[in-house]
Amino acid sequence: MAVWLDGRKVFLVLLLGLLLVFIYSITLKKPEGRFKRINDDHFLFDVHNDTNNSPYRASVETLPSKKVEGDEEQWNKLKESSKVRKRLPNAIIIGVRKGGTRALLEFLKIHPKIKACPVEVHFFDNSKTYQLGLDWYREKMPKSQADDITIEKTPAYFVTDKVPERLYQMSSTVKLIVIVRDPSERAISDYVQVLFKNRGLLPPFEKFITKGKAEKVLRTSTSTVQIGVYVEHLKRWLEYFPLSQLHFVSGEELTSNPAKELQAVEKFLNIKPFIKEEHFYINKTKRFPCFTSLVENKKKKNWGCLSESKGRPHPSIRDDIRKLLQDYYRPYNEEFYKLVGRDFHWP
Ligand code: A3P
Repeated sequence: MAVWLDGRKVFLVLLLGLLLVFIYSITLKKPEGRFKRINDDHFLFDVHNDTNNSPYRASVETLPSKKVEGDEEQWNKLKESSKVRKRLPNAIIIGVRKGGTRALLEFLKIHPKIKACPVEVHFFDNSKTYQLGLDWYREKMPKSQADDITIEKTPAYFVTDKVPERLYQMSSTVKLIVIVRDPSERAISDYVQVLFKNRGLLPPFEKFITKGKAEKVLRTSTSTVQIGVYVEHLKRWLEYFPLSQLHFVSGEELTSNPAKELQAVEKFLNIKPFIKEEHFYINKTKRFPCFTSLVENKKKKNWGCLSESKGRPHPSIRDDIRKLLQDYYRPYNEEFYKLVGRDFHWP
């Protein structure tokens, strides 16, 4: 009787062991279910299948501890995607100059999946740098994992003729972000920047932006005015990229409600929501959103605000000149709203 009972125990233990081995082998053989391919160079971590508490854990940690027989190709793919190395960007802030591009990039960096290039690279808009080739460009990028978003910003891209074609040649799937702002305000901001660089040696805005003594005709040929004709620049991009590959951020909304605008960018980039209202506060002196101490090491420097070159005071502009600008831009703005499917409510 006792011998028979022992035999039954051994049998049950063996059965249980076999069952465990079977379950373990099933989970090892399906690692591809955890990744979603978005383009040739990048994988996105599928957070829904993630059993890890932190969705931002390096994907190397999710690799099986050893190779499974017959799964060599899959194993190599996973190994490659987990490597930390320099990669070409899979998202670029292409403009617009003085739209709030620096604020947008710095704010996006809060997200652990965003790896941003600290400087404007001017690769595609400058023939000299462009000739240096994609390896040179890649070297300028920060190190990233394949499921990160590698991003750079060069606002000159949006308005430079050759850029859409060149960028398309690098990647037809790259995600493009444009931060736009009331073009009249943008023109004033642009003037203030040029004034600063010329150490104040510039005629007043009213004279600078108009032609003739009467100051009643806008100097539309100047880049200060031309950059704000967003719809015309956009049309050149649409010759190469579908509208769905471009995302438009409101410069005004980024200032008044940064978290909401950034959450829309997270969605566009297909990364898990991370950025929250608590990451920002409005600095009373600067009157712009700055980082709270929730953003590591940011609050300590400059009260968490961007540098002094961002958010400069503007001169007061004569009403008739402001109206001249607004009347000029209005039809272009209307066309732009229709094309992108969003009304930015500029005057
Ligand atoms: P002004 O300095 O004229 O106010 P860019 O980074 O593209 O050069 O844009 C600069 C503009 O970003 C600033 O123009 C400012 O209006 C805007 N901006 C948006 N958010 C900001 C922030 N949190 N801090 C400072 N400037 C901000």
